[in-house]
Amino acid sequence: MKEKLKAIEAAAREKLAKAADLKELDEIRVEYLGKKGAITSILKQMGGLSPEERPVIGQLANSVRADIDEMLRSAQNAIKTKAAAKKLEAERIDVTLPGKSHRLGKAHPLNATLAEVEEVFLGMGFDIVEGPEVETDHYCFEALNMPKHHPARDTQDTFYINENVLLRTQTSSVQIRTMEKMKPPIRIISPGAVYRSDAVDATHSPIFHQIEGLVIDKGITMADLKGTLEMLLKRLYGEETQLRFRPHHFPYTEPSAEVDLMCFNCHGKGCSMCKQEGYVELLGAGMVHPKVLSECGIDPEVYSGFAFGIGLERITMGRYNINDMRLLYENDMRFLNQF
Ligand code: DAH
Repeated sequence: MKEKLKAIEAAAREKLAKAADLKELDEIRVEYLGKKGAITSILKQMGGLSPEERPVIGQLANSVRADIDEMLRSAQNAIKTKAAAKKLEAERIDVTLPGKSHRLGKAHPLNATLAEVEEVFLGMGFDIVEGPEVETDHYCFEALNMPKHHPARDTQDTFYINENVLLRTQTSSVQIRTMEKMKPPIRIISPGAVYRSDAVDATHSPIFHQIEGLVIDKGITMADLKGTLEMLLKRLYGEETQLRFRPHHFPYTEPSAEVDLMCFNCHGKGCSMCKQEGYVELLGAGMVHPKVLSECGIDPEVYSGFAFGIGLERITMGRYNINDMRLLYENDMRFLNQF
């Protein structure tokens, strides 16, 4: 039996030396140390031994078992270390290689301009609110003092979902929605897309963007409107910016004005850029009409306010000297990369 045990140990040693992975090790463990393994079967035969031999063989069997166990453990460690080293080698990276640079995008000129406008107004304590692009006739026209068949609707033909639901032509609809929801003091701007059934050309698009402004409080005057717009336009176009307020008519403001910017190119003298006008038209504005206020439940005897609507495309084109609106929508990287 002694020889048998020795042979078992030698055989196990030989197999372990050849084992290539953990699965093979496990098979060897079962073969020698398992319940039906070689050592166990020796121990089972111990009954046939003499009382003198029994403890000697018992001790030897235990020490062979311990040896094989130890050998298994160290073979396991060796295999694991080898596998880890192989993995490291396979994943070796050359840290001296130049990195792959990521191409960083940047804001589209329309978004960059909008972000700047929003920053100016947030700085003056305005909130930014949004309104729906699919709007009812009521909010887009009726409540803005433009009843059906009002001539002011002629310049704002749009896309109708049905007789009363349409794509809004102006963000002025948000003025009404805001006054219905908020109590004065109100100070908001509302940027967003608007729609008109216009043919595409250098200055027209069936979808474009406006930024509406609305301030309602006690004692608001035209001076507040002028100061606010001057603050914005000087930030956008520089401190030397000159504005001109020209009387105009909008059904929802009284008095109303169009605000022009002195032409950068000719400083008011008239040139091809401003079509010999000396000024370029920028936006519409005015003091909110008392009728609009009272229909929104705000007492015009107590409160007054101003409103304005700016074309985002127009102020963006002015800032970057872009002469064709279509360029803003074509997403040609050669164009966009310039800004
Ligand atoms: N809604 C006008 C337009 O689309 C712009 C405008 C004019 C907005 C006067 C206003 C305003 O809030 O007071 O042409």
